[in-house]
Amino acid sequence: MRVDVYFTASSVDQARIHDGTAVVIDVLRATSCVVEALANGARAVYPASEPEDALRLISSLGREDTLLCGERQGRMIEGFDLGNSPAEFSAERVGGKRLVMSTTNGTRALLTVMGAPSVLAASFLNLGAVVNALGGEDDAILVCAGRQGRFALEDALCAGRILAALESRREEGLSLNDAGRAARVLADAHEISAEVLRTTAGGQALVEIGLAEDLVLCAEVDRRAIVPEMKDRVIQASPTPS
Ligand code: MLT
Repeated sequence: MRVDVYFTASSVDQARIHDGTAVVIDVLRATSCVVEALANGARAVYPASEPEDALRLISSLGREDTLLCGERQGRMIEGFDLGNSPAEFSAERVGGKRLVMSTTNGTRALLTVMGAPSVLAASFLNLGAVVNALGGEDDAILVCAGRQGRFALEDALCAGRILAALESRREEGLSLNDAGRAARVLADAHEISAEVLRTTAGGQALVEIGLAEDLVLCAEVDRRAIVPEMKDRVIQASPTPS
């Protein structure tokens, strides 16, 4: 299986996105929120790059049963219904709802690869489910959302963990690009815990605005057996192979 990792969405080789499944990773916190939202019964998530795009989208979808979600500088966008803390996406808040979501890095990364044959959202919360979904694939790219165009350690660790799990299932091994090889080494050198997330720049930024609790939830490996899949710019829970 060939797998290329990109440490930022802007570094993705557009020629590669048509070759196989694209897995987008934004551990802190967009893809963690997407997983929680769908696991708690949200009908669909509509990613939007800018808050203005989110507003346009919700006016065409209709306000009924639709929530506006997202952050800028980590905080809920003014006038929106929810921010970007996974714990906010509870069954009570999001069950049966459609969510229009705009975040600084994660939703943009999803839209960057929307031309791929299949686009999945991954985080530590659904790591095993994503690995299962990639089971029969020959080609995939793992796209780390990063932070404002820069490397984010937590996303690289998640990519490395996905690669390690894929490797352990495939006798023939993986063919990786240099970033993939680096992600594997990084993942072997770090445990996954809230403490490790706290040491990252993204983790620090959340601690500074009083959202340290988010790190505890985002560090939970395999909390959910759900694979969010984006089709025609709409993300829904895809049936998971056992
Ligand atoms: C993003 O998409 O930029 C993030 O998830 C940022 C955040 O949640 O603070």
